[in-house]
Amino acid sequence: MKHTDIKNVLFNADMVGSNVVVCGWVRTFRDSAQVAFLELSDGSSFQKLQVVIDKNALQFDPECTKLGASVAVKGTVVKAYKGTGNELNAAEIALLGKCPPEYPIQKKRTTLEFLRGIPHLRLRTNTFAAVFRVRSVAAQAVHRYFHERGYYYINAPLITASDCEGAGEMFRVTTRPWNAVAKTEEEYYKNDFFGVKAGLSVSGQLEGEVAATALGKIYTFGPSFRAENSNTTRHLAEFWHIEPEIAFAELPDVIEIAEDMLKYLIRALLEECPDELKFFDSFVEKGLIEKLEHVAGSDFAVCSYTEAIEILKKENARFQFPVEWGSDLQSEHEKYLTEAVFKRPVFVTDYPKEIKSFYMKQNADGRTVAATDLLVPGIGEIIGGSEREADLNKLVAAMSERGMDMNAYRQYLDLRRFGSVPHGGFGLGFERFVMYCTGIENIRDVTLFPRSVKNIM
Ligand code: 4AD
Ligand code: MG
Repeated sequence: MKHTDIKNVLFNADMVGSNVVVCGWVRTFRDSAQVAFLELSDGSSFQKLQVVIDKNALQFDPECTKLGASVAVKGTVVKAYKGTGNELNAAEIALLGKCPPEYPIQKKRTTLEFLRGIPHLRLRTNTFAAVFRVRSVAAQAVHRYFHERGYYYINAPLITASDCEGAGEMFRVTTRPWNAVAKTEEEYYKNDFFGVKAGLSVSGQLEGEVAATALGKIYTFGPSFRAENSNTTRHLAEFWHIEPEIAFAELPDVIEIAEDMLKYLIRALLEECPDELKFFDSFVEKGLIEKLEHVAGSDFAVCSYTEAIEILKKENARFQFPVEWGSDLQSEHEKYLTEAVFKRPVFVTDYPKEIKSFYMKQNADGRTVAATDLLVPGIGEIIGGSEREADLNKLVAAMSERGMDMNAYRQYLDLRRFGSVPHGGFGLGFERFVMYCTGIENIRDVTLFPRSVKNIM
């Protein structure tokens, strides 16, 4: 159907006087003796288009005025009677799809929790439509950022035989029947589709390293899967993961790139989604825009894990899990560091090797690795990254300590055998980034169909 996006009708002064067809869903209807007003949304903009109906001149199906109904309106664009922008004087209104009164998206403010129960309809609310417009703009900005800087976009496999993070959080991929019997694990997988144990990838990093050690600078942007049993507001079983990998990069380079990329993405949102951010600022997180402007314009903090532990230890009384050197940082510690101590994003670096992954570069102290997590107020960890161990012997030693199957990582080890180079990268959780930029507090509310423990609607 030939029609014009509401966004173009609303804000384009050149459109005044022209005849157009717009299509959309009815968001409100106001009636009076002579005129009636329909507010239409077609998803193209945060603002809705007001359609003015001269009741003496125009006959229309009353179904066209029902909340949620879809209509096509032919009319003339005029300057809005009130406020800025344009509105539409209707000449013809056609019903596309009726919407009965049991439509669950009613005007009274419905809670995010209620809307979680109707993921297929919740995008028709202001909040969710705004979240997904922001998410789309952010995704485009990710590609632009890397493309403009000469990175290649790589698609890493989603089905894999190697567990990148080594934390035992892989979903299994199998075609064997539920009641298949086997005497050993090996026998079970031998008769499976791939002949070996396979799973959904937790990270594209290992394949990213393959590409980076030939192409120089690459990034992946795709789904990662984690079977972790953590039912929190920041964990999903399926999330989108941005993972640049850079040859000849050491930890300080990785940190510099991560900070630069985040600032670029935030600036893109400030520029391209002003209406959405204003809405989130008013209704979701007061001061959001100021926060984002500040983050985009000032330096992030950097602090070593050892320094962080010194700071946290003094506050152990306030934590559910008191810390000492060697403990993994829990969400409460991460939030305390970034919200109470640094009051801005902070890169924590050089973690004890025991609590980090096998592939991280071992520091000269023999106790820590060249890793970094970026912690942000309100969320905690948003990025995890590191310089990678480029020394074959050290890498093999770290893998043996963890009892890993070297055979499954032959190709990965080859990268250290044949022209090894220092390199590094990081992973940004895309949903956590969107949470940070919208103020939305539950990761399920920035994801179209969130998958988490016991939840696959
Ligand atoms: O810290 P993680 O586990 O690091 C990696 O996977 C590395 N291989 C990345 C790399 O160096 N290329 O995950 C990276 C980020 C986290 O900081 C977090 O933002 C996000 O991915 N993330 C999740 N997001 C939502 N739900 C989950 N279950 C997540 N697990 C990690
Ligand atoms: Mg991490």
